[in-house]
Amino acid sequence: MEERKKIKTIGLLTSGGDAPGMNAAIRGVVRFAIRSGLKVKGIRRGYAGLLAGEIINMDAISVSEIINHGGTILYTARCKEFMTSEGQKAAADILKRNSIDALIVIGGDGSFRGARELSKFGINIIGIPGSIDLDIPCTDYSIGFDTAINTAMEAVDKIRDTSASHERCSIIEVMGRSAGYIALWCGIASGAQDILIPEHYDGNEQAMIDSILASRENGKKHFIIINAEGVGDSMAMAKRIEEATGIETRATIRGYMQRGGSPSCRDRVYASMMGIYAVQLLNEGMRNRSVAIKQSHLENFDIDEAMEMKKEFRADFFELSRELSR
Ligand code: ADP
Ligand code: F6P
Repeated sequence: MEERKKIKTIGLLTSGGDAPGMNAAIRGVVRFAIRSGLKVKGIRRGYAGLLAGEIINMDAISVSEIINHGGTILYTARCKEFMTSEGQKAAADILKRNSIDALIVIGGDGSFRGARELSKFGINIIGIPGSIDLDIPCTDYSIGFDTAINTAMEAVDKIRDTSASHERCSIIEVMGRSAGYIALWCGIASGAQDILIPEHYDGNEQAMIDSILASRENGKKHFIIINAEGVGDSMAMAKRIEEATGIETRATIRGYMQRGGSPSCRDRVYASMMGIYAVQLLNEGMRNRSVAIKQSHLENFDIDEAMEMKKEFRADFFELSRELSR
């Protein structure tokens, strides 16, 4: 069997869209690594910071008072240069020069793809799913999703009050450029008339208009439509719905508010556990793994296999929610 060098120093970065709970994961990694006798080097600003050599030493105190804060103390970024193999090789060389034996990447689908590329240059990587989009196929949970859906749901509750008072139709656009999980969960939790999500929407606006008109015939007085940002322009859609139905229609775009805020209890707990687990995997000699939570249990997958998996879309949830709202 291949003789593996014992890990002494780990690198840690956050990448892509920030997500509430990333700080709890950072804390979990740093504190557990130090307890395990490892050194931790934090890399600021994701892959961009790695290429710029923004590397700091982290100790137990450096992660004090962060578990309850959204965002990421390590900052995050997107980096075009890292998308090239030259960029990835340069990043691998920097890690090696800094004696970093393994890199823990907390991020979304794109950051995981980047991590996988880095592993091809001999870097041992561990990915921790951190994205409000819940778009990493191998896991049922990703850091920040729980906080984001609760933030979005609370906003819809507020909009509902005014929408109901004016007997309006309200389109509420939630985040999700290519993943509709926030829209799906928030839509079900809000009893939405319709939920438009990139994985499922067929562009048949007439069907939505017909369902609004049919519901109005049945006595429904106001309507909530949840639209994932990836589906399209909510403002223009509101105008078309108003014209077609005669019902005053307004669009609200929730935007970045969904990515911020103090993480929920669930996000803090799972993020902490994932951080610890990532270090445990390294202590056990594992290489190139993705951390996951499946049916409430921590699991890990080979990063290549994880990236080949397809995210199961909960069409059953979607159809059941439609049954209830009409
Ligand atoms: P997220 O991780 O939230 O999905 P992005 O998709 O923007 O965010 O990805 C974050 C960063 O990961 C990108 O800016 C880029 O540097 C890197 N990345 C994304 N996709 C790839 C890829 N296919 N190959 C290499 N690096 C990638
Ligand atoms: O964090 C995920 C996400 O919110 C996506 O839903 C969205 O498409 C994207 O990030 C937008 O982020 P930015 O504007 O920072 O690129």
